[in-house]
Amino acid sequence: MRVVFVGPPGVGKGTQAQRLAERRGVVKISTGDVLREAVRQGTPLGVRAKSFMDAGSLVPDELVIGMLAERLKMDDTKRGYLLDGFPRTIAQAEALGKMLEARGEALDRVIAFEADPEVIIDRLSGRRGCPRCGTVYHVRFDPSPAGTRCGACGADLFQRDDDQESTVRRRLTVYQAETAPLLEYYRKRGLLARLDGSAPIDDVAARLDDVLTATRPA
Ligand code: AP5
Ligand code: MG
Ligand code: ZN
Repeated sequence: MRVVFVGPPGVGKGTQAQRLAERRGVVKISTGDVLREAVRQGTPLGVRAKSFMDAGSLVPDELVIGMLAERLKMDDTKRGYLLDGFPRTIAQAEALGKMLEARGEALDRVIAFEADPEVIIDRLSGRRGCPRCGTVYHVRFDPSPAGTRCGACGADLFQRDDDQESTVRRRLTVYQAETAPLLEYYRKRGLLARLDGSAPIDDVAARLDDVLTATRPA
């Protein structure tokens, strides 16, 4: 299975990617998570990416494309992969197309998650994440059984710097301007499936399984 998740911030891509990767036994590659880890470790990539991420802007294509190309070289991608948050521009989609061609692979589906801005603001303001194992929670919709600590590993949960409302609004604008054109790009290639991301987590997961099982439209 080779699948791409596209959608505005907070729509639930990471939440569904985590669950789907577990259900299907494939690796999930969340470029936002990889970049945040690079920032945390202070690598050259992280140093260059930080100011863009803090501003709610996209990290330049050449950095993200190089990072993804490196990640895809790892053996765990041989059984398939789920790309969460990549591609995010037409240039990234073109680069991915070339990488796929070189690997003799094709995408099965591009899932476009959708939700209204109010839903998104609500979700991001209540999001909490685990710095150690990466599990994502929501204070109301998906609380950790351990309160302010991670239910899986016990670490103290944190709030992402870019989840403050002004930065979220900027991320939404950037999504519309730079990423939304990918929907048409992949629709033309017969790969796009739209998915309502505003339903409860388990309902979205069930619907996602339906979409992935259904045959591709011509
Ligand atoms: P990234 O980390 O990818 O952020 P994003 O796309 O803005 O998306 P989010 O991770 O905020 O949201 P999500 O859709 O994963 O939602 P989640 O499942 O967590 O990117 C961050 C930054 O990195 C970018 O701004 C950019 O700077 C840079 N970057 C990354 N990739 C890049 C690229 N390819 N090119 C250039 N730059 C790049 O859910 C949100 C909350 O809602 C959680 O609390 C969750 O528990 C809850 N929730 C989820 N689903 C539901 C549901 N169905 N019902 C109720 N609550 C739910
Ligand atoms: Mg995410
Ligand atoms: Zn944890």
